[in-house]
Amino acid sequence: MEKVVSLCKRRGFVFQGSEIYGGLANTWDLGPLGTELKNNIFQEWWKFFVHKRRDVVGIDAAIFMNPRVWEASGHVSNFNDAQIDCKQCKKRHRADHLIEDALHDIKVEGLSPEDLTKIIQENDIPCPDCGSKNFTDVRTFNLLFQTHIGPTAQDNEPVYLRGEIAQGMFVNFKNVLNTTRKKLPFGIASAGKAFRNEITPGNFIFRTLEFDLMEFEYFVPEDQWKKKYDYWLEEMNKWLDVVGISRKNTRVREHTQDELSHYSKRTVDIEYNTPFGWKELYGLAYRTDFDLRNHMEKSGQDLTYFDQQSGEKFIPHVIEPTFGLSRTLLMVLLDAYTEEEIEDAKGNKETRTVLRFKPAVAPFKAAVLPLMKKPELLKKSEEVFDMLNDTIVLDYDSTGSIGKRYRRHDEIGTPYAITIDFDTLEDNAVTVRDRDTTKQERISLDTLADYMAEKLSQ
Ligand code: GAP
Repeated sequence: MEKVVSLCKRRGFVFQGSEIYGGLANTWDLGPLGTELKNNIFQEWWKFFVHKRRDVVGIDAAIFMNPRVWEASGHVSNFNDAQIDCKQCKKRHRADHLIEDALHDIKVEGLSPEDLTKIIQENDIPCPDCGSKNFTDVRTFNLLFQTHIGPTAQDNEPVYLRGEIAQGMFVNFKNVLNTTRKKLPFGIASAGKAFRNEITPGNFIFRTLEFDLMEFEYFVPEDQWKKKYDYWLEEMNKWLDVVGISRKNTRVREHTQDELSHYSKRTVDIEYNTPFGWKELYGLAYRTDFDLRNHMEKSGQDLTYFDQQSGEKFIPHVIEPTFGLSRTLLMVLLDAYTEEEIEDAKGNKETRTVLRFKPAVAPFKAAVLPLMKKPELLKKSEEVFDMLNDTIVLDYDSTGSIGKRYRRHDEIGTPYAITIDFDTLEDNAVTVRDRDTTKQERISLDTLADYMAEKLSQ
């Protein structure tokens, strides 16, 4: 983990948020490479779950919503964490995490704050930061961030930053239905920032206050939910292959009844084997008709679906596959990180660090590298760059030794390096080096664009 964190900082994937002011806990900024990686993951996701399908459409809903939305969705009363403060060092902890980390094989979901306090006291659990056992009682806190619209906060009722993307899709269910004329079963997808005022244990970007989320609501007649649930679990696993997360590092875990969110009748998580244990990467929930039914009641609007074939009117049920985008970025990095021992030209052993990204998500697909900083090589390299630049995201790098530049691009996961040397001026061919095998091939400039397109599509 430390190695990935340090690489992220050194190479410009992730920076600490507001770093020059000493940071702000659990906020992170994406650097140039992290931004490319995130955008690539998102585009692949949209392609896989929206563009390639006839039964899913996408929307982009507002972050601010009428506060009634969050009352109807149950988030105002149910979206809570149980927290406890250490009186000695003032550190705040999630009570469930504190107990589970100290006592291991214990499940505390669904227990009241009083029960959690009792477990902590009876088992003499200390503060992991200072060792003190002098805690407050456990209290529950709502995870929705509040703010106010307008200049005088006191006059207005609070509005919330969205805690999930889903509600934008539920409140637009009828709009989408009427404008697209979709028939059940169909889905609405959306992606963007979500915000949760939660305690974060500091595992880099794993759990943060604001994060990118991609999810879709798949509307079905009630009697189809089981079939569609199994289907979407399969599709979610296939998505892991698209983005390059090895299935051997993931597992599916069923939520216990106590653990289920207030809106869910069944949830499974796809978990990833991180250096800090098995952790939730994605979730698949059966939300029944909970959300549409509650929005119907609170808004007074008709959110039913009319099935022309059967002549029946009903509230659709919902399967929700949800994908943390920020979390995907972390898992893609963890999964891609490899170190291997190699020998340099003089036979000295050294360690090569490689991010084995799938080409689809790699920030750069290839690097154009003039062998030396000679005017004729630079000119030819710029021509090669311009020739490929329309279709492939490239880096152009002319500084340092060629070996160092190969290492740098291995480390940031660039699948191919294209080197322009003095022979290029004679034979109109370049050397293409494969990041994973380090094998080099001589390719004519006449066929380079096709060659790269073929390689990058694998
Ligand atoms: N609409 C359903 C929903 O929001 P969730 O399990 O609460 O479900 C969805 O969150 C996904 O968002 C999780 O599977 C995880 O990938 C990601 N996630 C949740 N909380 C997060 C946080 N604080 N920081 C980063 N990612 C988070």
